[in-house]
Amino acid sequence: MKEITVLSEKNIKSMKLYSDVVRINNELREMGKDNESALTVDDLVAFDQLHYHGVEAIDIAIDKLGINSNSNVLEIGAGIGGPARYLATKSGASVTAIELQEDHHKVGAELTERCGLDKKVRHLCGDFLESKLAPYSFDAVVSWLAIYHIPNRPKLLNLCHSYLKSHGFFYTEDFALHSPLSKFENNELSKDFFANYLVSYSDYKTDLIKAGFHNILSEDMTTSWSKFTEERYNLYTLDIERHKRVHNPQIVSNMIHFYGFAKRYLAGGKLGGIRILGQKQ
Ligand SMILES: C[S@@+](CC[C@H](N)C(=O)[O-])C[C@H]1O[C@@H](n2cnc3c(N)ncnc32)[C@H](O)[C@@H]1O
Repeated sequence: MKEITVLSEKNIKSMKLYSDVVRINNELREMGKDNESALTVDDLVAFDQLHYHGVEAIDIAIDKLGINSNSNVLEIGAGIGGPARYLATKSGASVTAIELQEDHHKVGAELTERCGLDKKVRHLCGDFLESKLAPYSFDAVVSWLAIYHIPNRPKLLNLCHSYLKSHGFFYTEDFALHSPLSKFENNELSKDFFANYLVSYSDYKTDLIKAGFHNILSEDMTTSWSKFTEERYNLYTLDIERHKRVHNPQIVSNMIHFYGFAKRYLAGGKLGGIRILGQKQ
């Protein structure tokens, strides 16, 4: 049964983090791994986590939600599958990883197979808003830096609520606003960050409550993410000759643009980070 429909990816490639998924193959070649050799999750974690603070962020979710080998977890916006593979390996949980971009989905599924994790991690390609998964089937719905891409928050939260078992958790690390954006900032963020749904911290919580979640807990991640994105930019630019050798000048220029953009906005005071969870009754 087809559980999810592949929809148009629209303008998502305007976000330069997504334009060159071949980066992953370049990093593997640099490690001396050929196209088919077996891999471990440890081989990949330095470059398959497309959010802030890498696997530390996933460990926090495992801990806060009590995810274990009996858990069935759904991840929205799985990228190339880094969080899903790490989650499955660390906790023993079964993970369903939904990703919109076909190129990212394919790389993710292939890496999962090469890690021998395809029995634990199931990859689906398509728009989460069009997904048709079984109701009451997940202990947790999790997501790192993907929810703000998705334009219809009420529909997204209602779907999450329906897929969760009673007492299941919705958990995300995402972007939220400390103050309203100008039209120029709105345009920049929708192009360079593919931002389609940015709301204030209080509206973020209200949307969860309206969808039926309770026991809401949230944390402002802005200071920590601002520091992370500044360090990431500095480290990347320090090692630029290495990156040009492993990738190519166009890819390096795309990454510098993207890393610089994230650093500038998180330091700017309006765009912030949020870690938030809510529980189904
Ligand atoms: C910043 S990446 C993070 C990937 C992954 N969560 C990680 O931390 O490594 C966000 C991902 O969400 C995906 N995404 C955006 N909109 C989506 C949608 N409607 N349905 C499923 N995935 C979506 C993007 O294609 C992108 O790969």
